[in-house]
Amino acid sequence: MAEQMKTLQPRIVLGITGSVAAYKAAELARLWVKSGIAVDVVMTGAACRFIAPLTLQALSGRPVWTQMWEGAQDGMQHIALSRGAQAIVVAPASADFLARVAQGRADDVLSALCLARECPMFVAPAMNVQMWTHPATQRNVARLRADGVNVLGPDSGDLACGETGEGRMLPPEAIAAAVATHFAEETAFGALLAGRRVLLTAGPTFEAIDPVRGLTNRSSGKMGFALAQAAAQAGAEVTLIAGPVTLPTPPGVARIDVTSAQEMADATFARIDRVDIFIGVAAVADYAPAAPAEQKIKKEASESLTLMLRPTVDILAELAQRAPHVFRVGFAAESQNIAVLGEAKRRRKHLPLLIANRAQDAINADDNEVILLDDSGAHPLPRMDKSLLARRLIREIASRWHQWKKTNS
Ligand code: CTP
Repeated sequence: MAEQMKTLQPRIVLGITGSVAAYKAAELARLWVKSGIAVDVVMTGAACRFIAPLTLQALSGRPVWTQMWEGAQDGMQHIALSRGAQAIVVAPASADFLARVAQGRADDVLSALCLARECPMFVAPAMNVQMWTHPATQRNVARLRADGVNVLGPDSGDLACGETGEGRMLPPEAIAAAVATHFAEETAFGALLAGRRVLLTAGPTFEAIDPVRGLTNRSSGKMGFALAQAAAQAGAEVTLIAGPVTLPTPPGVARIDVTSAQEMADATFARIDRVDIFIGVAAVADYAPAAPAEQKIKKEASESLTLMLRPTVDILAELAQRAPHVFRVGFAAESQNIAVLGEAKRRRKHLPLLIANRAQDAINADDNEVILLDDSGAHPLPRMDKSLLARRLIREIASRWHQWKKTNS
């Protein structure tokens, strides 16, 4: 880990909260310092009752922060301390601290630091088994995980309160190893698509019937946005062509908003020559009104209304002709026979890779279960959260792209 972090100018902010396990944080600080990592220690008031700041100051060789308003001239150390740090690691993390961070509180130096951070955050919970298993704590932990916090442990065993069960803080060596593994994985992931250009479509399209009405579908755009984010984290230069959704643009991604299938096609074709990989995640409308009305269509109560629809351009199929040099990845939402219908679609659209899922499951959900279809067959993945799945899919896409490039250049 020392090697890993040296290249990144290693510094970790170690947060300590009120728990008997606070004494173990001293060993954690010692391990990091020994391996060449600078450690800035921040302690809550409760932590100071369990272990003296002086101990941590001696071990880290740096000032220990315990008060919101001490130290820096401008009173901004709660922001400054996390800037340039590789991680904030809170060990031990008490139930109260987890609750406060889950709520986004910033009323002491450590919680303010966590709220203002730009770096990854880890927590190593330590508490009584009832506190840990209480629905409130589990709710807070689920919230923190959803907010991107890495939760390490807890272990099971004898607890300081005399009870036995889940709630022991992980040993300092295990915490240091988990943080090191995380950084090794991040570094490897960040190199997967370094210097590559990735273009994606995401979300639904909206096909106007008249100035106020239209045809659309229930695609949320979540999968496409998560993939765009993961591709950017993998080092790619990412452009995301988004149909009408209100999702925030992932960091480092260039976004182009479009409305109709035709606009999505135009935006794609204008950029396709400059990319290495195209991922079509959008649920593009297959049909659009043939002649949208210029004025709002008025109701004729006694008459039924017939809409004439024309097929839209199939962006992905069209790319097989226009851009055979680009590695093209399709998505297929099928309501039945997923692998069979997906494979037929993959062949029809001449795709090296198609990601198939159940339409009823995928649309608008936070998780998804997919099957990868390529020349070597069908490869099912387990159900997982869309952001985790996105990272997994970017790994799968990157490795296939490297292979494909070898035989197609
Ligand atoms: N797609 C596209 N342009 C279209 C329709 C679909 O680029 N006009 C892309 C989607 O982004 C997706 C893939 O094609 O990657 C498959 O979309 P899907 O709706 O499942 O397939 P369709 O070709 O529309 O076939 P069907 O609706 O009959 O299943």
